[in-house]
Amino acid sequence: MKRIGILTSGGDCQGLNAAIRGVAKALYVKWGKDLEIYGIQDGYRGLITGEYRKMKQEDFSGILTLGGTILGTSRQPFKKMRVIEEDNVDKVCAMKENFKKMKLDCLVILGGNGTHKTANLLSEEGIPVVTLPKTIDNDVWGTDMTFGFHSAVEIATTVVDCIHTTATSHGRVFIVEIMGHKVGWLPLYAGLAGGADVILLPEIPYKLNSIVKTLEQRNKEGKNFSILAVAEGAISAEEAKLSKKEFKSARASMQYPSISYRLAAELGEATGQEIRVTVPGHFQRGGSPCAYDRVLSTRFGTAAAQLIANKDYGKMVALKGTQIIGIPLSEVAGKLKTVPVDCEEIQSGRDLGISFGD
Ligand code: F6P
Repeated sequence: MKRIGILTSGGDCQGLNAAIRGVAKALYVKWGKDLEIYGIQDGYRGLITGEYRKMKQEDFSGILTLGGTILGTSRQPFKKMRVIEEDNVDKVCAMKENFKKMKLDCLVILGGNGTHKTANLLSEEGIPVVTLPKTIDNDVWGTDMTFGFHSAVEIATTVVDCIHTTATSHGRVFIVEIMGHKVGWLPLYAGLAGGADVILLPEIPYKLNSIVKTLEQRNKEGKNFSILAVAEGAISAEEAKLSKKEFKSARASMQYPSISYRLAAELGEATGQEIRVTVPGHFQRGGSPCAYDRVLSTRFGTAAAQLIANKDYGKMVALKGTQIIGIPLSEVAGKLKTVPVDCEEIQSGRDLGISFGD
């Protein structure tokens, strides 16, 4: 009998259930009745507390298009994994004990950056692990693409499209704040796809004057509206000079709910124009995966099943060009895939006259 545990960890995204289904169905095809799959509840939390259930084969049917995760998820910060807190639980020991108790052959982990640091830790502790890269941020190092990203791009683009029509009617400047955490893939893609006039990314610190010039130039050209696609992690050129600590404290004392509201106030003052802010927030992570993500999740799922069948543990499945490969967790953990400032997408935007605020 083969016994496989599976968990989803960190912020959810579209395609998690499609990926779970991909792993499970491919394993059932390989091993049929010789397979038991255990669903671990709410990510690493369930592995620590021992909350899991034996799944039935039917549990993996009808979930290809379902948003969220049938296993639940939670954020368990990596930096606290080795810290004994008030509950007096040694989390790493507890996870290893529960793995043993479940008599698992392998643990399948679906997650983003933080999740991969803990997956690597578990692998180093001797647990056979196979992982799949998920996140709307597309910032997992080692894979060209994470599942969830394209679905979120679709949603964020729809927001930019809808804002375009009302901005045009009213002759207003609109900021659409787009998720992506500390990297700019999502705002870059949604900004390009939605025809934004200004795209601000964490990787390119912005200068207020430069944005003001762009808005004024558009006014001169008779364009009475402008759309700014602003990353939630956007930073100004002045902020980029601060140390990590100084930046944190400056942001903690910022009187606006997010960077977009501060920018709206500054731009309003500098241009005298009416500036509105739209923050689609977690909407970008919700609902059904788009067709691209359904395919990618399925390919990742079946590739993960193959790694498990080959006992090729300690690896993450990744997209490299058009191929799915397995790469060692030790290479992935602790690295962030940021947007290269000289990438073709940014250059293409610049060629169109889009401002990146620099
Ligand atoms: O990592 C995915 C993500 O949606 C980021 O884009 C965003 O910064 C963060 O999660 C939000 O986290 P939470 O769901 O914990 O508010």
